[in-house]
Amino acid sequence: MRIPVVAANWKMFKTTHEALAYVRELGSLVKGFSGVEIVVAPPFTALLTAAEAARNTPIGIAAQNMSAEKEGAFTGEVSATMIKDAGATYVILGHSERRKLFGETDELVNRKVHAALAAELVPIVCVGETLEERDAGRTLEVLDRQVRDGLAGLSAEQVAGLIIAYEPVWAIGTGRNATPEQADEAHRHIRTRLREWFGEAAADGCRIQYGGSVKPDNIGALIALPDVDGALVGGASLQVNSFFDIIRGALAR
Ligand code: 13P
Repeated sequence: MRIPVVAANWKMFKTTHEALAYVRELGSLVKGFSGVEIVVAPPFTALLTAAEAARNTPIGIAAQNMSAEKEGAFTGEVSATMIKDAGATYVILGHSERRKLFGETDELVNRKVHAALAAELVPIVCVGETLEERDAGRTLEVLDRQVRDGLAGLSAEQVAGLIIAYEPVWAIGTGRNATPEQADEAHRHIRTRLREWFGEAAADGCRIQYGGSVKPDNIGALIALPDVDGALVGGASLQVNSFFDIIRGALAR
C-alpha cells in the first residue's frame, strides 16, 4: 500500500521568519501523525530555517528546483548537495512554471532527476499538459513523452522510490481543478506506462500526486481515486490551516 504524500509548494512566497512560524505551527498540528507523508517546499533562502523547525516532526522538506550540475561556475544556481546540506530530503523538478518560464526541457529535467538521486534526494517530477494540448486530444501523448524522457535511464528501484506529480497546467492557480474523471484517467495512464517501461514493482511503488487547485473541499474526491497518491498544493498551502485540512483530507485514503 502506497502512503499518500501531501506537499506544500510555496513557490516564491515567504521570508525566513514566515517560514519558521508556519513550520512551527504545522509541526504542532501534525504531531504524532502517521499514514500520510507531509512535505513543505520553501524557497531556497528558507530551506535551512524550515528544516531546523521541522526536526522531530513528521514534516519533510523539499527544494522547489535545483541545478543539474554538481558544482562550478554557474552563477545563481544551487546544487543537490547544497540542498541536502540545508536539510531537504525531496526536490520538486520540472514544475510547469520552470518549463514554461525558464525553458526547462525533458532532457534537462532528466539530468536533474539523476543528479537528485545521486545526492539521495527524492525527486518529485512534475508532468502535465497545457489547455491547448488537452483541447487537441494530446494529453496522454504529452504525459508519455514527459514521463519517458524525464525518467530515462533510471532503474526500476529508482522509479519505485520517486514521486510523480500530475499537474495539468490549466488547473494551476486557476481555481479550476481537474475533475476526478480527468485525474483518474491521467494517473491510471501514467501507472500503466510505468508498468510497461519499468515493471510491476516500480509501478506499484511510485507515488503519483495530483496538483492543480487542490483545496480542502476537493481533496476527498481526488484521494479516493486508486491511483492518486497525494497532492502537490500551491495556493492553498500558504495558510497553515488550509494545508492542514488538506493533509487531514488525504488521511481518509
Ligand atoms: P495551485 O494549487 O495554486 O493551483 O498550484 C499548484 C501547483 O503548481 C503546485 O505545484
